[in-house]
Amino acid sequence: MQIDGKSVMITGGCGGIGLEMGRLFAEAGKDVVLVDAKIDAGAALADRHKNIRLVQCDLASESEIESRLKPYVADMLINNVGISPKFDKAGNRVRTWTMTLDQWNTVMTVNVTAHFLCTRLHLPRMMENKYGRIVNIASYAARTAGYQAAVHYTTSKAAILGFTKSLAKEVAPYGILVNAVNPGRIETAMTRDVSQEINQAFVSQIPAGRLGLPTDIAKVALFLCSDLAGYMTGTAVEVNGGLYVGP
Ligand SMILES: NC(=O)c1ccc[n+]([C@@H]2O[C@H](COP(=O)([O-])OP(=O)(O)OC[C@H]3O[C@@H](n4cnc5c(N)ncnc54)[C@H](O)[C@@H]3O)[C@@H](O)[C@H]2O)c1
Repeated sequence: MQIDGKSVMITGGCGGIGLEMGRLFAEAGKDVVLVDAKIDAGAALADRHKNIRLVQCDLASESEIESRLKPYVADMLINNVGISPKFDKAGNRVRTWTMTLDQWNTVMTVNVTAHFLCTRLHLPRMMENKYGRIVNIASYAARTAGYQAAVHYTTSKAAILGFTKSLAKEVAPYGILVNAVNPGRIETAMTRDVSQEINQAFVSQIPAGRLGLPTDIAKVALFLCSDLAGYMTGTAVEVNGGLYVGP
């Protein structure tokens, strides 16, 4: 497997899936930029791999994206940042009929607008180089509504699939490939906001018999950036152990 790009930016890079993607790309010899609001969790990995740089940035802020990320524009971009608030501050389930516009907008800003802004930042260089790889991390929730996912999260992930298709057609003539990955239920902080019992019960619904691991997603992101996927664009790869097998 060959990856022509020399550098990669991974948003939400210090979360469960982001860190593992960072590790795999670093071990493949790439210059890796992990972008996150909280970079402490990336310190140990960056210590081990001198080709990993941590950049602190609030991806909900257009001005921070423009000013802090511009120096690190890369050949490959993994739009991975995402949040999935299921409970409000009082501990109540987030429901459509009580959701504030602010709650809605927060999820849309991080899960959709940040992908657009980071992509916009990268496209001029990718177009000039006639090379680019963009991988958008969506979710099986875009297909199924997921498990306990609130309506803003599901909507945001479905939006990313539309973003992926439309962008792929627009930039394919410039040698830029754009694909999405739909993770199933993956063991990270995002799925640890419910009890272990719930996660274990979940396993019974997964034909593969286990929750996904960050590396299951990271390997597919690596594949999508490689020559093995050189004719793939505008698609979404389902990585879920059989949890969802629909159209
Ligand atoms: N874990 C799962 O089961 C699962 C399933 C389907 C899809 N996904 C998607 O995979 C992606 C990665 O999720 P994960 O499981 O690694 O989650 P995670 O919570 O472990 O990591 C998310 C990271 O994003 C960062 N982040 C959040 N808001 C930010 C902001 N405004 N600015 C900068 N950084 C910010 C967090 O600090 C965190 O490090 C997300 O898009 C998520 O929706 C995850």
